[in-house]
Amino acid sequence: MKPVIIYGAGCQGTALLRRLNLLASPPQVHCFIDGNPARQGQTIAGHPIHGPDYLKTVPSDEYLILVAVGRHYVHIRDRLRALGRKEHLHFQQADPQPADFTALQPEFADLLEDLRGLTLLSDDRLAILFQLAHMARHIPGAIAEVGVYRGGTALLMARALAGAGKPLHLFDTFSGIPEADTDLDHHCPGDFNDTSLEKVRRLLDPFPDTHIHPGRFPETVPDTLRDQCFALVHVDVDVYGSALDCCAFFASRLSPGGMLLWDDYGFESCPGIRRAVDEFFTGKEQRPLYLPTGQALFWHPGAIAV
Ligand SMILES: C[S@@+](CC[C@H](N)C(=O)[O-])C[C@H]1O[C@@H](n2cnc3c(N)ncnc32)[C@H](O)[C@@H]1O
Repeated sequence: MKPVIIYGAGCQGTALLRRLNLLASPPQVHCFIDGNPARQGQTIAGHPIHGPDYLKTVPSDEYLILVAVGRHYVHIRDRLRALGRKEHLHFQQADPQPADFTALQPEFADLLEDLRGLTLLSDDRLAILFQLAHMARHIPGAIAEVGVYRGGTALLMARALAGAGKPLHLFDTFSGIPEADTDLDHHCPGDFNDTSLEKVRRLLDPFPDTHIHPGRFPETVPDTLRDQCFALVHVDVDVYGSALDCCAFFASRLSPGGMLLWDDYGFESCPGIRRAVDEFFTGKEQRPLYLPTGQALFWHPGAIAV
């Protein structure tokens, strides 16, 4: 590793120096840079602190600049670009990042391997669904998904809920999106028809109490489910009309503590989801929680037994 310059002589920068010194072969630290004149001219563990102008005297290829300034990174990045430095080549963000969920949960990492080719969801969204499914083990009621496609997210929930004694109800046409709003939705009728009901049946066969309801939701809801409460519902339908139908059916059927998770809420590719959810919750007291993964989560605010 090239010798480094640490940009940021506050607590982020000093913590970075400690982390670097724990590496098997710590890089040589040339100096600190800080825009605060009160810090310039001082030292940290023997390393001098210079003002940003010092960088004009340093050839860009000699050092890697590690930027440790928390939420000010964007500002510093622009300054470094103005000096002709390239992000990831001459400088990079070096603030601590959260651990990947797969590193925290080996069971989830194994599951991801089995989902390849079966789901359209990114790993971060799958991690949210996996954790909610685990929480749902302790919440009364059944589990449902509308928007099964090749069965990836259904399999994830079935695995996370195995042995919890909960029925899993799966709804899909298995012939793709049934209808779309041409003024709003970007998906068209027939999208996602490259799946097979038989294959999904075989995939879920090892999980007893799994019920597949082929056809257009909500017409395929059996009468026996109208009095059912739900612990977790995953809605992944991509279009406005279907999302609104899901809100109308499930929001009032959640158990206390029950959860309703919409995929694609924050995605430009599926504007109908946000429109449907926002429209449904307008004027209601509770609002869904927007997650940085682009999903939205609503949970019934009843007391949860812990
Ligand atoms: C994006 S795919 C689901 C992806 C899946 N959850 C996964 O793990 O990759 C959307 C699915 O929603 C289904 N769908 C949309 N509206 C529906 C409705 N009203 N009734 C039944 N299925 C619907 C489509 O058939 C399609 O298979």
